[in-house]
Amino acid sequence: MLDGYGRNINYLRLSVTDRCNLRCKYCMPADGICKKQPDELLTEDEMITAVRAAASVGITKLRITGGEPLLKKNILSLCRRAAAVGGIREVCITTNGVLLDALARPLREAGVRRVNLSIDTLDAEKYRGITRGGKLEDALRGLHAALEAGFERVKLNAVLIGGFNDCEIGDLAALTRQYPVDVRFIELMPMPDSEIFGENAYLSCDAVLQALPELLPNGASGVAQLYRLPDALGDVGLIRPVSALFCASCSRLRLTADGKLKACLHSPDERALKGLSQEEMAQQMRLCIAHKPACHAVLSAEHRSQAGRGMYQIGG
Ligand code: 5AD
Ligand code: SF4
Repeated sequence: MLDGYGRNINYLRLSVTDRCNLRCKYCMPADGICKKQPDELLTEDEMITAVRAAASVGITKLRITGGEPLLKKNILSLCRRAAAVGGIREVCITTNGVLLDALARPLREAGVRRVNLSIDTLDAEKYRGITRGGKLEDALRGLHAALEAGFERVKLNAVLIGGFNDCEIGDLAALTRQYPVDVRFIELMPMPDSEIFGENAYLSCDAVLQALPELLPNGASGVAQLYRLPDALGDVGLIRPVSALFCASCSRLRLTADGKLKACLHSPDERALKGLSQEEMAQQMRLCIAHKPACHAVLSAEHRSQAGRGMYQIGG
């Protein structure tokens, strides 16, 4: 369905849980997160009803996110049922990869076509620091499992953080020579619940182009500008939520684990879907799309996101 600005809204990001087994500093506070009560969350049937409603208003692409979606006991059943909904052409998943070793193949068999994995650093000590306790080897094992499971595409996400992983831009990008993966650098967004990073933490994606002058432009895909290293097997993607507003080409709706529909990541506006019938959900989706804002406000250290919730409660 077209929104009020002529954008074709065909992509739903469904957060299936607000829980996570990591606590990345740019996403979650160190402690004191308010987890939703189980009865506030959408049930599996309600999520599938929402996917059917979304398909009926023109959604064709579904991304399962979290928190960490693989913590959900019913994740395979959810993916299988979502992939079978008429009109949904592809189901993808975004995960931190820590539990992917055991789940990559079953997810692929459940109909998940592509997987995005977060790896911000290749240094085990730094990984433990940024994730507040995670083990890099678990995520790397997840990456290998994903590569072996035969997904159509595997992408690695790295949030670019000055003074943290800017010295690893070359090493992270070089993963596209080692494996058939895309590596995407994402600008750090000042989210409501994230730790306050120092003044130099935010780096524009220009830092990647400066570090790697050998990168050759290779088109664009969704919100990512693509480049390639000579002899690489995959692309280096730059995602610039801060230095370039990509709102004009945004095709997304978001649904949180507690059933709140969001037209924009950085807007506090939400519509509750819990307890509604499929037709009522579809009606809310139409209204949400019709009122999708043209763009979000400027983001900076002083102007933090107006999302109204943390990233782990929205799903990125
Ligand atoms: N800024 C940029 N990206 C973020 N992510 C989570 N929090 C932020 C933030 N503050 C990204 C993670 C993950 C995806 C789900 O969202 O890197 O890859
Ligand atoms: Fe968990 Fe992803 Fe947030 Fe990290 S970024 S704490 S892996 S939800």
